[in-house]
Amino acid sequence: MEDIVGDARTGGEATQVGSRAVGAVDATCRAWGADYEGIRERLRPTAENDDDAFGDVSASAFVAPRVLLTHKNENLYNAYACEMAALSRGAARGVCVGMFVTPDGSGGETRVAAGLRAEIAPLCAAATAEELLERVKALRVCVKDSSEVAFVHDCVARHSQRMGTDALSAAFRDVVGAWGAGLARRSKDERDARNVVRFAVVESAECYVFGLVTFAPSSLSLRAVDWARKPQHFSAGTRAEIALAAVNVATAHAAGSFSHESGDAVVVDPCCGSGTFLHAAWTRGFAAAGGDVSPGAVSMSRTNVGYFVGRAASSGKLAMPPMPSIVKRDALHGEVFADGYGSGRRVGAIVSNLPFGRRVAIGGGDGDGRGAPGASAEDYAPLLEAFRDVADRHVYISGVPIADEMRKLGYANVSDVSLCRFGRSFMTTALGSTTTTDGALAPDVAFTTEEALANAAGKREKKWKKKEKSTVDVDTRFANSDALRIAVDVSYEQDSTRARRSVAKQLCECVGVAHRNDNLAMTYCSWRGPIAEESREFFFSDRWTPVKKDERRVEDAFSSDEIVYMSPDAEDVLDVVEPDKVYVIGGIVDLATRGMRTSLTRASEANMRCVRLPIKEFKPDQTHTVLNIDAVVKILVARREGLNWDEVFDRELPKRQAIERPKREKRERSTP
Ligand SMILES: C[S@@+](CC[C@H](N)C(=O)[O-])C[C@H]1O[C@@H](n2cnc3c(N)ncnc32)[C@H](O)[C@@H]1O
Repeated sequence: MEDIVGDARTGGEATQVGSRAVGAVDATCRAWGADYEGIRERLRPTAENDDDAFGDVSASAFVAPRVLLTHKNENLYNAYACEMAALSRGAARGVCVGMFVTPDGSGGETRVAAGLRAEIAPLCAAATAEELLERVKALRVCVKDSSEVAFVHDCVARHSQRMGTDALSAAFRDVVGAWGAGLARRSKDERDARNVVRFAVVESAECYVFGLVTFAPSSLSLRAVDWARKPQHFSAGTRAEIALAAVNVATAHAAGSFSHESGDAVVVDPCCGSGTFLHAAWTRGFAAAGGDVSPGAVSMSRTNVGYFVGRAASSGKLAMPPMPSIVKRDALHGEVFADGYGSGRRVGAIVSNLPFGRRVAIGGGDGDGRGAPGASAEDYAPLLEAFRDVADRHVYISGVPIADEMRKLGYANVSDVSLCRFGRSFMTTALGSTTTTDGALAPDVAFTTEEALANAAGKREKKWKKKEKSTVDVDTRFANSDALRIAVDVSYEQDSTRARRSVAKQLCECVGVAHRNDNLAMTYCSWRGPIAEESREFFFSDRWTPVKKDERRVEDAFSSDEIVYMSPDAEDVLDVVEPDKVYVIGGIVDLATRGMRTSLTRASEANMRCVRLPIKEFKPDQTHTVLNIDAVVKILVARREGLNWDEVFDRELPKRQAIERPKREKRERSTP
């Protein structure tokens, strides 16, 4: 075998990686936009390898490109891209949602990233899983000290010729299991788990990569997920992952100065709401302080953050920072920052979700929905002006893009990303003069702010068009002598809420059919009572513009010679659907399926002509002849369009009912 990956713990023997595997990893990284030449060299164990610390060896053995797996959430990707750019000093490249690469793991800085799931040192790559398996078999790996090994398969994007997870895991586990003292069992004990050497296959759309897991965050660590357990929820609250990413950007490469033990700076959120940013900064061991103009928010954030501070203190295990100072203050006045928001420290960074949207307005009042103060960039200007000179690092979340406004106000190194494909929120960073990146942050975004705004404009236009379309001039339809006239008789008493809801839902479906067919003049008769109520309350029937709603009974609204009542139990069979007739469908569900001949009875009592659809004749295998109201409407529309009955039923009969036994038949059989 020519490919050898050195066992890092042997301190030098067998340290080379064969050129084929290296070439594949090189090519893959290049394809991802990361041109990290000479991976062979970097895959050598480092000289300062520590033989005794196996866990660390797996992390530091290879100075090589790292694959960083993040959570696979498209809307969080841009926030992660920001922190990856800040933490890696611009070296990290985004590959796809859920994956970044960096030249060397950026000295461990990227390991604090909010969404990081794992860091992997790639050992070989291939176009398909089968090829990769052959390459991995050819690697000679020896895991020293009989440590157990584990294998994970991670799919960031599905490969077009993918190998199923079970088959892939079985095949790779066999190979990897032979490298150490067998495969590790799953352990809940963190220490046990840490002593296991993990290998992973990362499946992406273009290729498979095999590598050593060099870092995976502890599942027990106090990270974003914990915030979900806070005592008080706030509907205008920020996602914990976004808050953590914002804190990471604001404090990148300056963790020491924000450290609550040894630093002099504090992270401040002057509009702290429920305390999400304060908690995020606190979990990183930073000194944090905040405030809010609303006394309710001050109390809420004290309760929420205090809950976690108290928990950490009582566990006695974690050397966490003390409770952040949280004060009631109006942040519109820059001078309120003078005391570091009660912390007595230098304000090193301001991170905040600025007030916007339906719930909150600048000044602490209630937002009034779409037009709330804080809905335009200029609205933010007073706050942004107050914050500008207080700190050098700023990260803001806002409901509209504010980068231009910030530049206008004199902020330096400003860049922004949209946190939503439809431009509903933005993260704007201004890293001032102390920044360790060159100029403004340049994250590898999945979609730009301009694209998100264009999407939002497109969506608005679509919504507007839909609204326009949804308002139909029903009189024009009824004036058309060629229109198909249908009436639904809503006079039946339903015996349960479920039945009423079901009828209302079917009537709503019929409105959809009417929207799609301009030639349909449909009337809901006997429109009063519980069904009308149900439709109004649960299906917004006031907006059912393509149908007429008539309080009169069918027999009062139409003349007897034009009424054709549809009933599954009628003897006469419908053939041609004519324009001078009104086809009446019973607005009834449950009773019919109980074998009670209600629509026939109703039609006969009022001397109305009654017919059934020719289902038995054309579809003798169809067991279910009692159809939903909307199904009958669709069938009548199709027949009126000129289709023959075979075509009509093929297109419109509900497919599942062709093989299902109807309830009516089941009940009759079970009756002794
Ligand atoms: C979007 S919320 C913040 C949400 C917070 N990040 C969280 O996750 O809960 C904005 C907050 O700004 C506060 N606010 C509005 N105007 C303010 C002002 N002039 N000074 C301080 N706080 C203000 C509001 O009371 C509200 O709590």
